[in-house]
Amino acid sequence: MKEKLELVENSFRQALAVTSDTKGLEALKVKYLGKKGELSGFMRLLKDIPNDQKAAAGQMINRIKKSFQGQLDDRREELKKVEFEKQMDSEWIDITLDPLQTHAGSLHPVSLVQQRLERIFESMGFQVLDGPHIETEHYNFEALNVPAHHPARDMQDTFYFEDGHLLRTQTSTIQIHGMENLEPPIRIIGPGKVFRCERTDASHDSCFHQLEGMMIDKDISVSHLIHFMRTMLGEIFESDVKVRLRPGYFPFVEPGFELDISCLLCKGKGCSVCKKVGWIELLGCGMVHPNVLRAGNIDPSIYSGFAFGMGLDRLAMMKYGITDIRPLHGGNLNFMRRFATSS
Ligand code: DAH
Repeated sequence: MKEKLELVENSFRQALAVTSDTKGLEALKVKYLGKKGELSGFMRLLKDIPNDQKAAAGQMINRIKKSFQGQLDDRREELKKVEFEKQMDSEWIDITLDPLQTHAGSLHPVSLVQQRLERIFESMGFQVLDGPHIETEHYNFEALNVPAHHPARDMQDTFYFEDGHLLRTQTSTIQIHGMENLEPPIRIIGPGKVFRCERTDASHDSCFHQLEGMMIDKDISVSHLIHFMRTMLGEIFESDVKVRLRPGYFPFVEPGFELDISCLLCKGKGCSVCKKVGWIELLGCGMVHPNVLRAGNIDPSIYSGFAFGMGLDRLAMMKYGITDIRPLHGGNLNFMRRFATSS
């Protein structure tokens, strides 16, 4: 029996060495240690051997059984590790990759302020007009009281087409289209893109956005202008904004003003944003020049009006605390998403 057991031990050892997965190990366990396995067969033979050898033979079979069990357990641990490694290699994923997310689009900060302004003015009886980006000199300059020789043309250099058309430098062009197409009383705003031959820096770009406004009726005065500006600014900045008018020159208004608001960051005390003066220059405005009314077929002896124009990029920058105009037109979606929930 001893020699036979040694043969079984040898064949077990060899079989174990070539088993390469845990499934194979289970089969080996059944073959050697199972109820109908090799070692159980030897146990059954014990009854046939002489009594004085029985105990020693029984102990020997039990020792081999334990040894097989131990070896199977050790090998199982080894193989489990190998199988785990294999699985890791085949199911490898890069968890540092940006997940494939779909982002819902959101409105650009300039569109946000534009829409907000449109709602504010519509609630005050103004209608929103659109105008062409490509204009004639007549609409961009002459009808706005800037004849060909006028030095104000230098301040608004633009891109000219060979046929004499140009990219509009200001939304004031919409005033003329509005007066031509509507009858007084007129309350209009005209938002849109404008273009200038500018060197780009933190506060200038060759394309930016303006919103123009105009009100024409009988007996319109500067107090109407101040009322509408104050109402509009209070709504947009959601606080009671202090307003001041300084004389300012624009060929299409007389008198003309620069409108400043008290600095929202320091509440007028003076800070680096308002350059220590407590006021921020926001828009140009004034009483519509009689020549401009005439260019729009409106009789200045019957009607008067006010007009204003402001930069929407500048307004968006102030409202959202953006210090450089360039990312506004840079197309970086991560930058844009910061304003996704703002209104
Ligand atoms: N069009 C002017 C500009 O681009 C802004 C402006 C000033 C518009 C005064 C107006 C106004 O309607 O009355 O600088």
